[in-house]
Amino acid sequence: MKTVEVSLGTRSYPIRVGRGLLNDATSYGEDIGRQVLIVTDENVAPLYLERISIPLADRELASLILPAGESNKTLLQAARIIDVLINRGMRRDACIVALGGGVVGDMAGFAASCYMRGIAWVQVPTTLLAQVDASIGGKTGVNHPEGKNLIGSFHQPRAVLTDTETLDTLADREYRAGLAEVIKYGVGLDIGFFAWLEANMADLITRDPAALEYAVSECCRLKAVVVAEDEHDRGQRALLNLGHTFGHGLETALGYGTVLHGEAVALGIVLAARLSERHGWIESDVTKRIMALLETAGLATTLPAVNKTKLLAAIGHDKKTLATSPRLIALKSLGSAFVCDEITMQEFEAFLDENLDG
Ligand code: GLY
Repeated sequence: MKTVEVSLGTRSYPIRVGRGLLNDATSYGEDIGRQVLIVTDENVAPLYLERISIPLADRELASLILPAGESNKTLLQAARIIDVLINRGMRRDACIVALGGGVVGDMAGFAASCYMRGIAWVQVPTTLLAQVDASIGGKTGVNHPEGKNLIGSFHQPRAVLTDTETLDTLADREYRAGLAEVIKYGVGLDIGFFAWLEANMADLITRDPAALEYAVSECCRLKAVVVAEDEHDRGQRALLNLGHTFGHGLETALGYGTVLHGEAVALGIVLAARLSERHGWIESDVTKRIMALLETAGLATTLPAVNKTKLLAAIGHDKKTLATSPRLIALKSLGSAFVCDEITMQEFEAFLDENLDG
């Protein structure tokens, strides 16, 4: 097992990464209280709810199974969590355990941040995407019909228990999509990790336990450093959004569900590299290396046919976008991303003309 510390003063917490953590009562730490509510969804419950309940059996335990999927990340579902907390008479020292992917984590964390002005929670992420990104850093929230994550809070968990064994049951497509976020860390933050991924992608594809534990803990380590410096996302935390401005735009323009989030991020990373190359910030060889790694991971690097007007409109509405220019995370070299606000909408449109078919 590896442990990564997220250093945030009194709100510091460990991320424990290893196989079989779900079965281990000690991995929760000392102070999660007597009353525990496990929040999960209908996909994860049949796989892991019983297993996670065993080490928690000496607590006053309740569970809630929510409908799965991004379309259910709503205030209504978060309110259901709070209803259970109230109906079960959960006190201020109660704890929520969020068992599932990013949707479950975001909603359970949001409910934990609101109930009695904030109770403890522990994240137990079960998708690769959640293990390397969503579970770290305390962003919680729900969607509004007008936009994703418009309602939310920062509420750090007490611990993150990342049982890499849970990835054994993840569908191939979901797993590959998660690898896009793993690659993002190498491309944007750490050339050494990028080189490791180039050398070890074959093992990661086969979900080799040692390779997986190393890759996941490295992503956690890299994210923990960024979060410790910019918990509330006012500066450098934006670097974690490499590939996401284009990625979110593509998800919206193509229609949600057409591409998975990670697949869109992979394409977004390619576009961010090409844009950086167009500006002379990186050489074409860097773009080629990035594309080759994404392709080895089984991710598409060729853009699907997408309507440029829709894409521009979606990027224009991206919440990370400033009024006059799209906020992009660009590359000054491999392993070194920066926040770029200097690209005008006109220039951006010309760039898309060069890179889109239709
Ligand atoms: N997923 C980006 C962040 O946590 O800031």
